[in-house]
Amino acid sequence: MELANKHLLKTQNYIGGQWHDSPAKLPVCDPANSNMLAELADAGPADAEAAVGEAHAAFPAWKKRTAGERAAVLKRWHQLILDNTDDLARLLTLEQGKPLAEARGEILHGASFIEWYAEECRRAYGQTIPTHNRDMRLQTIRQPVGVVGCITPWNFPNAMITRKVAPALAAGCTLVVKPAAETPLSALALCQLAQEAGLPAGTLNMVVGSDAAGIGRVLTQDTRVAKFTFTGSTAVGKILMAQCATGVKKVSMELGGNAPFIVCDDGDLDTAVQACMATKFRNAGQTCVSTNRIYVHESVHDEFVARLRTAMTALKVGHGCEDGVTLGPLIHRRATERVAQLVEDTVAAGATIEVGGDFLSTGVNYYAPTLITGVTDDMRIAREEIFGPVAPVQKFACEEDVIRRTNDTPYGLAAYVMSENIRRANRLVEALDYGMVACNAGVFSTAAAPFGGNKESGIGREGGVEGMTEFYETKYCCYGA
Ligand code: SIN
Repeated sequence: MELANKHLLKTQNYIGGQWHDSPAKLPVCDPANSNMLAELADAGPADAEAAVGEAHAAFPAWKKRTAGERAAVLKRWHQLILDNTDDLARLLTLEQGKPLAEARGEILHGASFIEWYAEECRRAYGQTIPTHNRDMRLQTIRQPVGVVGCITPWNFPNAMITRKVAPALAAGCTLVVKPAAETPLSALALCQLAQEAGLPAGTLNMVVGSDAAGIGRVLTQDTRVAKFTFTGSTAVGKILMAQCATGVKKVSMELGGNAPFIVCDDGDLDTAVQACMATKFRNAGQTCVSTNRIYVHESVHDEFVARLRTAMTALKVGHGCEDGVTLGPLIHRRATERVAQLVEDTVAAGATIEVGGDFLSTGVNYYAPTLITGVTDDMRIAREEIFGPVAPVQKFACEEDVIRRTNDTPYGLAAYVMSENIRRANRLVEALDYGMVACNAGVFSTAAAPFGGNKESGIGREGGVEGMTEFYETKYCCYGA
């Protein structure tokens, strides 16, 4: 593999500041063509336990550092990531499939969490509370929660790690991270750069393994782990949460979504198509905030569909490292077949394919950008997370109807509203039971804002001030005068 900085290609687990091999091996393959990129040391539960031990041992010293000292290390790490952006992006595209421009965007977005939390940790203020008793003084202080266990997904192999790790380290916590087995190379490269930045041994540990359930059990049940944070499906999140319950661990969960994209009759259709393309086709639709259901007012439905079709046919499908490619493969065959089955079921239930609707011969895991009309709320495609480049469109007649239909789901992560009417936009934004609503925009994630979901889409927030509080305990201190 061609990298300018050869040190970034790591194939071992990072535990206690050392690179650890393992007799078992885990192949990592390019999803575009199944070529093997590297063979990794396949860690198991015993390695995860060793990593927890290292994180536990490193915690007291890291916690004692001042916010400024922790910030200095994080800033060096941030700079090293920027210096190595091209290599990190290439690794990410090779193992994940997304186009290189998107991979670069993710590396910069991921790095921005490190910079933002390096700054934020200096503002971990407690409070002085007006006392109820003149002989007592009341205060709160914030203290790091302790060792954090993290499990992160393959769709954003860099940013979903930094979004958790940066605030945790900034708060004074230490961590064990299990990145997705499909995309460990860009994750391990982050550890290499953290080590170069001077992050003390044991502060950040990473184990990559095919035994996800075994490693997950350690991170959710080891009593030395104080907090567990997960990004992934709602189904797996529920299992992990149940495991955390036995030790009453603090949890944060970024889970699945079923994002509605509402185009009102007063929406600007150019803006709507642009936003829809961004949310639907970024990462080939494999994001938990990807548009899953498109609701278009009946008076603008045909015009919107025509414009969306034109934009979709301009997508360039191919290997993410090729120039100009805007849509890469899905992560693996299982995912591609699931999407194909979902489309088949939708057509069998009476919907119409306007564009696409089949596998592509570009490579093993490619599915055509697909536009479907005549979708109804009872179809599987409107109830399940698609996680693929498929855009299902429905009509709606009035505001009340679209609010009721879009809220009728156990999920509540992201929603999108396209309207030029400020009053209507406000009404919809407030009525939608979602953790995040983007109005006239398709991409909204930033280090400065809280990302997270309502209902079965999760617990807690990542990013912004809220993302930092997830890694603190607030201690109430009462002093007799
Ligand atoms: C996701 O969690 O899948 C989306 C991440 C983002 O948009 O930042």
